[in-house]
Amino acid sequence: MLRSKIAGIGRYVPEKTVTNQDLEKVMDTTDAWVQERTGIKERHYAHKYEETATTMGARAAAIAIERAGIQKEDVDFIIFATLSPDYYFPGCGVLLQRELGITSTEIAALDIRNQCSGFVYGLSVADQFIKTGMYKNILLVGAEIHSMGLDFSTEGRNVTVIFGDGAGAVVLQPTEEEGRGVLTTKLHSDGTYAEKLALINPGAHAGYHYRKLGEEVDLGYPETEYGETFITQKMLDDKLFYPYMDGPFVFKMAVQKFPEVIMEALHAVGLAPSDINMLVPHQANLRISEFVAKKLGLGPDQVWSNIQKYGNTTAASIPIALCEAVEAGAVKPGDLVCLAAFGSGFTWGSALIRW
Ligand code: UT7
Repeated sequence: MLRSKIAGIGRYVPEKTVTNQDLEKVMDTTDAWVQERTGIKERHYAHKYEETATTMGARAAAIAIERAGIQKEDVDFIIFATLSPDYYFPGCGVLLQRELGITSTEIAALDIRNQCSGFVYGLSVADQFIKTGMYKNILLVGAEIHSMGLDFSTEGRNVTVIFGDGAGAVVLQPTEEEGRGVLTTKLHSDGTYAEKLALINPGAHAGYHYRKLGEEVDLGYPETEYGETFITQKMLDDKLFYPYMDGPFVFKMAVQKFPEVIMEALHAVGLAPSDINMLVPHQANLRISEFVAKKLGLGPDQVWSNIQKYGNTTAASIPIALCEAVEAGAVKPGDLVCLAAFGSGFTWGSALIRW
């Protein structure tokens, strides 16, 4: 049976480290609050004028390609997951193709906008294409540059202290090796709570969505016959372009959905939590990961956590964490690896991989 295997993995985090103490200097927060509520000690920020999701993704991709033992020209499909793209359009997939210097047009590029679960969604999409035999060297990238668009005033502190920048990438190839590769993936979504964790401005008639939610928010649309609704002066003046998160609500949903979707994947292949050698959860909050581990009866050596160093890097968090775990020798051939994510959308999902 044809399965997808991760043939190479790479990661890149920018050089600049920003500690909680650094953030204390620009907003009303404390190292103690951030560590106690999230586990985060520091995060990395991209170079302000020289790095983007695409450039960081390319750094991680180059490592994954080399470790897969292929040339960049062998890549036949690019999947790029990010919520912080270089441009509104086109997406980062084609920009990555150009950044890597892949000039062939026989390749295809796809962008995924599923925020924290973008990598798991991308893995599932890649897995389907590999299983049908359509592609043989899929480059899947998760990359984020949050630092360029967060509110660094006290008003934005509940969101800003959490997020960091970085990128991770894998090369997926077909394998017929018995028992090896992606065993299953499970995906879910529920648009009911789309605005509980969202960045809705600039946008196409964001006012319509506010009114539907029962809120009358004046976005300052001018009385012109056409256009001028995407970005208004009022949106800029009132700083309506920052991400919003109802933290406690998202937290409650996350601790419910993570265990559910992990159990769903395990049931699908007749395995139990005790079979998991390494759970690599999306690094949303150390408290969430600890809760999930407890619920599934997993010990600390069965769960990879690196949010302390990088914060939440949304689509990049799973590939960065998985890459670190592999490099540290914590994931060995034959191990059962479980990936799981939950986030904005809401979208969530899981994957089981026999390494
Ligand atoms: O990756 C995508 C999915 N995202 C998540 O899974 C995130 C889920 N949510 C969370 O991780 C948590 O809700 C947070 C870490 C975001 C917040 O922790 P919390 O324990 O839920 O805090 P809270 O939002 O209920 O706020 C508690 C207090 C508030 O003050 P009052 O009203 O009690 O006086 C906040 O204003 O903490 C205050 N606060 C802060 N204080 C210092 C909020 N942010 C900060 C901050 N520093 N950075």
